[in-house]
Amino acid sequence: MLKKIRQLLSEITAFSAQSAEEAEQFRIRHLSKKGTIALLFEEFKQVSGEQKREMGQLLNELKIAALAKVNELKEALSGQDERLEGLDLFLPGDPLKTGSRHPITIVKNEILSIFDRLGFVVSEGPEIEDDWHNFSALNFPQEHPARDMQDTFFIGKNPDILLHTHTSSVQVRDMETHELPLRLVTPGRVFRNEAISARAHCIFHQVEALYIDEQVSFADLKQTLTYFAKELFGTETRIRLRPSYFPFTEPSAEMDVSCTLCHGKGCNVCKGTGWLEILGCGMVDPNVLELNGIDKEKYSGFALGMGVERIAMLKYGIRDLRLFFENDIRFLEQLSAAI
Ligand code: DAH
Repeated sequence: MLKKIRQLLSEITAFSAQSAEEAEQFRIRHLSKKGTIALLFEEFKQVSGEQKREMGQLLNELKIAALAKVNELKEALSGQDERLEGLDLFLPGDPLKTGSRHPITIVKNEILSIFDRLGFVVSEGPEIEDDWHNFSALNFPQEHPARDMQDTFFIGKNPDILLHTHTSSVQVRDMETHELPLRLVTPGRVFRNEAISARAHCIFHQVEALYIDEQVSFADLKQTLTYFAKELFGTETRIRLRPSYFPFTEPSAEMDVSCTLCHGKGCNVCKGTGWLEILGCGMVDPNVLELNGIDKEKYSGFALGMGVERIAMLKYGIRDLRLFFENDIRFLEQLSAAI
């Protein structure tokens, strides 16, 4: 009898059915009142002595296996017939769409690769920051109105913990941890408490660059900017620098490039000025060097920072910044094909 049970067990586990009908026949054959398993249980009543234990276990195993098989077949075959009805099995399947990089990633990589050619190494830092790295170490004194330039998201009630408002916070971490000279580029996502519109979002991407060495001058900054603009927007691109203010740079400037659409003649993208504002920059304020433990007599540096969405918008004539975040596949496809 043991042999019989074992044989049936292997038969049952190996069984497969092509249709619901076959599965039902299988159930009747093995699990109905007069089925093979019920008969074996009948026979089992006569067994006595040593064999009883082993056989009982095996019989139970057999029953469980048969029930599991029936459930498995039911699941696999349920609705199969209706599903197959009227279906042309020879039709080719829908092609799987391959994804592509997000336009922001493409533009960010392009910016990084230009800086890579100038010897700038990528460095990244945390999005959740403390006041020191986002503000204080960058020469934003407490209560200074410059802090209001960047509407900050604080985490909970603690005014010391926030979502970084710019990737300049990463530069502070770099100054803490890296040996001089420093030549780094910091891409990252930044957060500001701003109303979402066609021109602003509460989350966007920045790339900043920081160069600190002996005798770094404004001429180095200007040359870097010129190279960068020509590489990104084309060799005919011109740049101009306008005086500006950032707490962490002195002097500070805003860089414009000649309009990529009208080449300086004036159009509605550049609002008739012929120029497009691209980034902020300047010589690292000696206070920042000092706050970060760098000898300000020996070293000097420049920094610059830009918004990736803004560059992508200007480069590809996109008028609404929200499109980058909605991830409408039609927009993404169209843009990655253009890029
Ligand atoms: N951190 C500035 C901002 O988010 C951008 C910026 C300006 C970065 C000048 C710099 C810089 O490194 O030198 O508005």
